[in-house]
Amino acid sequence: MKNIAAIILAAGEGTRMKSSIPKVLHPICGKPMIQYPIDTINSIGIKKIIMVVGHKADMIKERLEGVRFVKQERLLGTADAVLKTKNILLKDKNIDSVLISYGDVPLLTPETMKNIIQRHASTRSACTLLTSRLKNPTGYGRIVRSSNDRITKIIEEQEASIYEKVMEEINVGVYCFNKIDLFGALGKIRPNNRKKEYYLTDTIEVLAKANLPIDSVSTDVPEEFLGVNTRNELLQAEQVVRRRVLDSIMQKGVTVIDPANTYVEEGVTIDKDTVIYPYTFIENGVNIGSGCSLGPFARLRKGTIVGDDVSIGNFVEIVRSRIGKHAKIRHKCYIGDTIIGKRVNIGAGTIVANYDGKRKNKTVIEDDAFIGTGTILIAPVKIGAGATTGAGSVVTKGHNVPAGRTVVGVPAKILKRTKRAR
Ligand code: UD1
Ligand code: CA
Repeated sequence: MKNIAAIILAAGEGTRMKSSIPKVLHPICGKPMIQYPIDTINSIGIKKIIMVVGHKADMIKERLEGVRFVKQERLLGTADAVLKTKNILLKDKNIDSVLISYGDVPLLTPETMKNIIQRHASTRSACTLLTSRLKNPTGYGRIVRSSNDRITKIIEEQEASIYEKVMEEINVGVYCFNKIDLFGALGKIRPNNRKKEYYLTDTIEVLAKANLPIDSVSTDVPEEFLGVNTRNELLQAEQVVRRRVLDSIMQKGVTVIDPANTYVEEGVTIDKDTVIYPYTFIENGVNIGSGCSLGPFARLRKGTIVGDDVSIGNFVEIVRSRIGKHAKIRHKCYIGDTIIGKRVNIGAGTIVANYDGKRKNKTVIEDDAFIGTGTILIAPVKIGAGATTGAGSVVTKGHNVPAGRTVVGVPAKILKRTKRAR
């Protein structure tokens, strides 16, 4: 994929989202929408990605890495957006083809993108685009073909006549162009339409009139080309990705009791024989070992790593913490910024008070410790190996509990004679 560069268009305002953050930064299963096409394009081996940004460009630039940005100052349409990459791409002599996709069409799979590129390379067309058929094609550009089935143009929804509106073949919005043909055609586009925009889709008619070959690949998986323009479509995308994520963890040997009510974000790893009960939320980046039991109603947040055979029960929230093998945290707990050792038992209702109003502090609970019901641990604090806290005790900041000892009370004091409660 050395001779191919990708352009992702993301300058639009996304007005239909009615949001103060740019549309493409809205998360889908914990990952910004715009990261999806970037990851997909990277995964098929395309290294050069140019992203066209405009509306709230700085917010987008801050969040992304590994792409080159160009700015579209005025949102004059998708053709104008692509033209902003002209100088960079014409100068780059190694590049002869350009893959263009839209930042708001996040669910395309690597296989489909590869298909388009391979087809393009083998037919040497001026443009190869992805189409599909929809019973209700409202909102999409329609593919117009001649009687001999050649693509002659794409007509946008607003411009379509009632005859064109019933055409079911749609423009998904991903194209592979020959670089020279693309920029040649873009120069000829005029904003002669209701929106007074320069449409990228008008390049097809320009190329067809010049008798240049236009080819297409089709997909019959509707979820792939879902364009996210509204909150409702964002929800549809969320549902598709959620299901994809759950399918992939189930394939790795994880049991999901009720997929409709389980929320695992992109970028979570879970090992085999772990069971996830309903209403469990697992955020991006969390790592979970094998043989664990999670939920119901558990919430595992960013920065959490869980070892093998851990039991995390109902109404437990864990953030930025490490949980050792065979630990049990079964009922109504909050664990933040904590390292928990092996075989630790955390009693019902235990709270780690990790935030003192200014900063988040760390707590360490060493192997085999036994934290009694309703303990409050005020960070920073350390509970030594095999130590015990009595029910309802409040272990205050810096009052570390030595290994093997027991503390009780408020504030917790070390018992003189330490006999293990277990
Ligand atoms: C576009 C296609 C339509 C296709 C549909 C698929 C055009 C003219 N139409 O319509 O044929 O069926 O996608 O989802 O291309 N953008 C810019 N600069 C601009 C305008 C838009 O960067 O000046 C970006 C937007 O941020 C967005 C993408 O281009 O990511 C598509 O723009 P949008 O206005 O959503 O196009 P659609 O009406 O969905
Ligand atoms: Ca769109």
